Amino acid sequence: MTKGSAPRDSDWWKSAVVYQIYPRSFADSDGDGIGDLRGIIGRLDHLAELGVDVLWLSPIYPSPQIDNGYDVADYQAIDPLFGTLDDFDELVAQAHARGLKIVLDIVVNHTSDQHPWFLESRSGPASPKRDWYWWRPPAATTGGPPTNWGSYFGGSAWQLDPASGEYYLHLFAPEQPDLNWENPQVRSAVHAMMRWWLARGVDGFRLDVINLIAKDPALPDGVIDPRTGFANGEPHYANGPRIHEYLAEMRREVFQGNDSGRILIGEMLSVGVADAARYTDPGRGELDMVFQFEHVVLDHGSHKFDRIPVELPRLKASLNHWQEHLGPRGWNTLYLSNHDQPRPVSRFGNDRAFRVESATAIATTLHLMRGTPFVYQGEELGMANPPLTELGDLRDIESINYARQALTAGEDPETVWHAIRTGSRDNARSPMQWDASAHAGFTTGVPWFPVNPDHDRVNADRQRRDADSVFAHYRRLIELRHRNPVVVRGDFTSLYPEHPALFAYRRSWGGETLTVIANWSDRPVPIPADLRQRDQSLVLANDGTDEAAETLGPWAVRVFAGSIAGNPDRV
Ligand code: GLC
Repeated sequence: MTKGSAPRDSDWWKSAVVYQIYPRSFADSDGDGIGDLRGIIGRLDHLAELGVDVLWLSPIYPSPQIDNGYDVADYQAIDPLFGTLDDFDELVAQAHARGLKIVLDIVVNHTSDQHPWFLESRSGPASPKRDWYWWRPPAATTGGPPTNWGSYFGGSAWQLDPASGEYYLHLFAPEQPDLNWENPQVRSAVHAMMRWWLARGVDGFRLDVINLIAKDPALPDGVIDPRTGFANGEPHYANGPRIHEYLAEMRREVFQGNDSGRILIGEMLSVGVADAARYTDPGRGELDMVFQFEHVVLDHGSHKFDRIPVELPRLKASLNHWQEHLGPRGWNTLYLSNHDQPRPVSRFGNDRAFRVESATAIATTLHLMRGTPFVYQGEELGMANPPLTELGDLRDIESINYARQALTAGEDPETVWHAIRTGSRDNARSPMQWDASAHAGFTTGVPWFPVNPDHDRVNADRQRRDADSVFAHYRRLIELRHRNPVVVRGDFTSLYPEHPALFAYRRSWGGETLTVIANWSDRPVPIPADLRQRDQSLVLANDGTDEAAETLGPWAVRVFAGSIAGNPDRV
């Protein structure tokens, strides 16, 4: 099978690879230090060369940028920081000309507090849009916030509006008020907006925290966490009562029966595998795939910045569980990296002694599982976490809020900075490293976030010319998915799940197998004898071409193709 000849048009995305662009950190064309749409247009050839199929753009809409664009003030325009609608149309045309689809990030659990809908809603209890958001009087018992829920970014999830004496709900920052999806006008406004983008040529949507939209309208209190003084309200708003109804309605109203070549991807907090199987069952007409968080919260202790070590068997158990239990109809996203996660080579690999080896071993392990792989910008170069040493280095609202609060509360600064260095979302947001020049070719101005000083060694320019680079390996990996139906269709069997250093599994389909054996450690590991079958051929490796090697070096990975002789399924 070659690229473009996907198995069935209706599920083309199973053989696709998605590349996420965080526009403000990707490429700056006008020297203001912030990436923009024309910067992306200028780098499309890098993406075409990499071989990805779909580009997902983090938000590009007008926004006060309290949460870097995840606070949208106008859903149908482009923030002047990033360019104009004409630039956007050109980006779509140029991407399509290279066979790249465009997916937009849709943030509709909440708007910005500067969105005209909210300004109208806030104008008073009689506003026709009052009910578009969650307004409530103070709690009768305490005179304070209507529920005891905490926000994801710290503090209460409720903000008092002094003019009316009522509170509004914001699960994220106070500048991100939550929309009330119970109101049918809200839903149809969102659907109309999404249809408008489809008419402009986009191919689908990534739906931000979409399983939080269906709150239990009774808004019950949760159980208070003594550390913060607030409750986690998720039991009352994650995967809430009407969520499946809202998602099916969205697909129906937005795609209007024409799903061909289009995709809906949902980001979902606290979603279990059984729920995800329902959300992605094609028969239900909801989503094509979901981002779940189970494997990226394993290193969280009592909270995100309480960092705990994760032994490999735990990580494997989580990923394997999703591989094995999503069922024949559900579909995974495969990701370790995005704009909210630390860099995988720093988090799971060894970004000093074995950067290239660990970046490629980790990528191979992830990409050949069952699901659609997502590559976050710079991951294809093995970009590492940037140095973060003082408050002035931080840009992310979540990290700044945490560091300030923890340092003010007298927590040990070493522990706080360890948590920031290993957990902060800023780790993902340092600018893309294009070349070895000043500011890594990202901007001619002063970058909004300093480039990682390692860009003299780690950059796209150098890696495109090096057949042993992380970039070259990603190209081979993506090509393998496009070419080999076992990667797309195969069943998944985990191998040696308890092994402390090996990450191994087998995919099989139509009598063919692919066996992936990766060493996720800094020490050599013997390949178990039963995994070294003679009739297999090496199809991909990051440690040379000796098929008969009996040991995997640190962070080495090998992929073998074979066949199950006499398998009745063989086609
Ligand atoms: C999602 C986004 C994140 C944002 C949050 C609120 O998790 O990925 O960046 O802060 O939603 O919109």
